[in-house]
Amino acid sequence: MGTQHIISIGDFDRDGIDRLLDHAGQIDKKKFDPDALAGKILAVLFFEPSTRTRMSFESAIARLGGTSISVGSVDACSMAKGETLADTIRVVSGYADAIVIRHPKEGAARLAAEFSTVPVINAGDGAGQHPSQTLLDLYTIRQSMPIDGIDIALVGDLRYGRTAHSLASALSLYNARLHTVSPNGLELPQTLAAKLRDRGMEIIEHDDIREVIPDVDVLYVTRIQRERFPDSASYFNVSSSNRITPELLEGARKHLIVLHPLPRVDEIDPRVDNSPHAKYFEQSRNGVPMRMAMLLQVLQ
Ligand code: NCD
Repeated sequence: MGTQHIISIGDFDRDGIDRLLDHAGQIDKKKFDPDALAGKILAVLFFEPSTRTRMSFESAIARLGGTSISVGSVDACSMAKGETLADTIRVVSGYADAIVIRHPKEGAARLAAEFSTVPVINAGDGAGQHPSQTLLDLYTIRQSMPIDGIDIALVGDLRYGRTAHSLASALSLYNARLHTVSPNGLELPQTLAAKLRDRGMEIIEHDDIREVIPDVDVLYVTRIQRERFPDSASYFNVSSSNRITPELLEGARKHLIVLHPLPRVDEIDPRVDNSPHAKYFEQSRNGVPMRMAMLLQVLQ
């Protein structure tokens, strides 16, 4: 078998995803060998800020007996001296058994995989994909309800939000119905929407968050991706009228869960945190068992 990379959620079929979710469930029940990856080294190459993704990958490799290495800040590595990503990857793949990469450019992880001799995991490539986040999102949904046939609202920046892109793709395998609520200009990219509709997915666009709340099982809220806007004026033109509040959730289904990949800025009122609907902190915690399952898949 060739080197197994995880670049896009589209690399998996439904069985492949379900198997990983099941495995994460076992790991969550402490059913894993804490030395399974003893002696393995994970290189963590993050060219963009991260708290959860990076720390949960580092926690995951440590819990399996392996180690992680990194350059620290991007400014401290040779790309700051003009080295190409291809050269950096060629070098780093000689130092580690797998590479987790986050990069501001869409397609960077795919390029890295071309030059790497070890498995590459995409931890976010610009506005492209974020497959490990999607797996933990699906895992979190499945803790509350079967994924098949759910009604889910994707709220926020669906244009630049890579977590929304990956999740929407994966959900097309589960016969989910997608409701979208985004500020003007931040809608789901047409090409992605067309692809999903071709796969038979129903996508319903809404102008007002109040319209969707009573009809969905999952509310997936995302941050406006400020860093991806061409200039600050266009960012300030975006209104954040879709803030989730306890009052807004009054008409929700009893089993509705609110997810957010985090970090949140002001999309969710902190008063929602204590509501039984709020699952976003559990969701971030699920990053560890999910990424342990991923590391075991590519490194064992
Ligand atoms: C997300 C990302 O980096 O795309 N964060 C994460 O990995 N949990 C979401 C975001 O930054 O808004």
